[in-house]
Amino acid sequence: MSERFLVTGGNRLTGEVSVGGAKNSVLKLMAAALLAEGTTTITNCPDILDVPLMAEVLRGLGCEVVLEGDEARITTPAEPKYHADFPAVTQFRASVCVLGPLVARCRRAVVALPGGDAIGSRPLDMHQSGLELLGARSEIQHGCVVAEADDLHGATIRLAFPSVGATENILMAAVLAKGETVIDNAAREPEIVDLCNMLRRMGAQIEGAGSTTLTIRGVKTMQPTTHRVIGDRIVAATWGIAAAMTRGDVRVRGVNPKHLSLVLDKLRSAGSQVTMEPDGFRIVQEGRPTAVNYATLPYPGFPTDLQPMAIGLAAVADGTSMITENVFEARFRFVEEMIRLGADARTDGHHAVVRGIPRLSSAPVWSSDIRAGAGLVLAGLVADGVTEVHDVFHIDRGYPRFVENLTGLGGMIERVPAPAVAG
Ligand code: UD1
Repeated sequence: MSERFLVTGGNRLTGEVSVGGAKNSVLKLMAAALLAEGTTTITNCPDILDVPLMAEVLRGLGCEVVLEGDEARITTPAEPKYHADFPAVTQFRASVCVLGPLVARCRRAVVALPGGDAIGSRPLDMHQSGLELLGARSEIQHGCVVAEADDLHGATIRLAFPSVGATENILMAAVLAKGETVIDNAAREPEIVDLCNMLRRMGAQIEGAGSTTLTIRGVKTMQPTTHRVIGDRIVAATWGIAAAMTRGDVRVRGVNPKHLSLVLDKLRSAGSQVTMEPDGFRIVQEGRPTAVNYATLPYPGFPTDLQPMAIGLAAVADGTSMITENVFEARFRFVEEMIRLGADARTDGHHAVVRGIPRLSSAPVWSSDIRAGAGLVLAGLVADGVTEVHDVFHIDRGYPRFVENLTGLGGMIERVPAPAVAG
């Protein structure tokens, strides 16, 4: 049995919490360090396992990596290795973001594919076809993506869907390709803008960051830089939604509130008083939240990573909410666990209908991924009795100091260590 959380419901969350750097940004920024020989420094790195794992991936590619406090110093050699098919790579999906930088720097890459995923299939077809248009042949061989290019040249690439990962890989290959690349229907997530800002400081020529069209003029070489990771909007919003669910009063710091405009609008519709602050926001909820409909969409739409928390909020809201999942097909699987907690929820394809009830009822539940786990803990905060949340290693991968942060806000949560294995 792995570690568990015991969550006792009933407390109102109050106080202040700070968030660190965005998980979905830092890993790509670390991969981008491969694009320039020399030492790149990344600050405001979150204290989560994926950061040392990414450091291991980069070391395997010939980089020296020093992690100290919230800083990562990555020294990239003149000729990085291009073979990334060692254990650290298969341990987390985001490691696939070394593909673009390796193709750009080495003109070839072998990157092991990660295993299955609880939130649905995650193909790489758009990553591959984008790189092919830039001149790289690419195929899957023995569980690895293998890409090779004699020469990389600019191209016009129209993505069928604004995939975050495909946009990042194509972008990181295009910065060192010959000529102009246009990525149409590009992802617009703040983490993409963060990556573009760092790449520009390294010497890349990119226009249109944050819009649906990215135009990149390839350069010959890039220089290392120092860059601060943006605050984690998903962690920040998790605390905001927890405040609304528990009828609390929480100030969240360390994030740009504009990255959460739609989420904060939804909280307003649910009855929260929302105050935007220069480096965060404050949520005050008096009385029971009201039901709101949500549809997950690529940014600036409602983030799929917050869908489990939206279901948690809907489960205790006054009225019926309709939640539509448009990004990951299997992301509703965790709703079964919400039902175990007494939620009146039904799913049909990519729709969920949730009829709010005043209070949930504690039960043992299992987290299947980072966000589902966090959603279940939030539900435990508004359930009668003690909810046991299992498999919390998922939650730890996205939320640094999760228990400490929640306890600091007055939440009753305790980590129960895994029992020692005999023999
Ligand atoms: C990133 C985030 C993840 C977030 C997601 C959507 C990281 C480490 N993870 O994941 O937390 O939930 O964005 O905001 O940054 N797709 C294809 N073919 C492809 C690529 C994607 O069909 O080649 C599909 C996926 O199966 C999925 C959808 O496109 O249904 C969105 O995926 P994508 O935006 O690529 O998500 P990730 O980059 O994997």
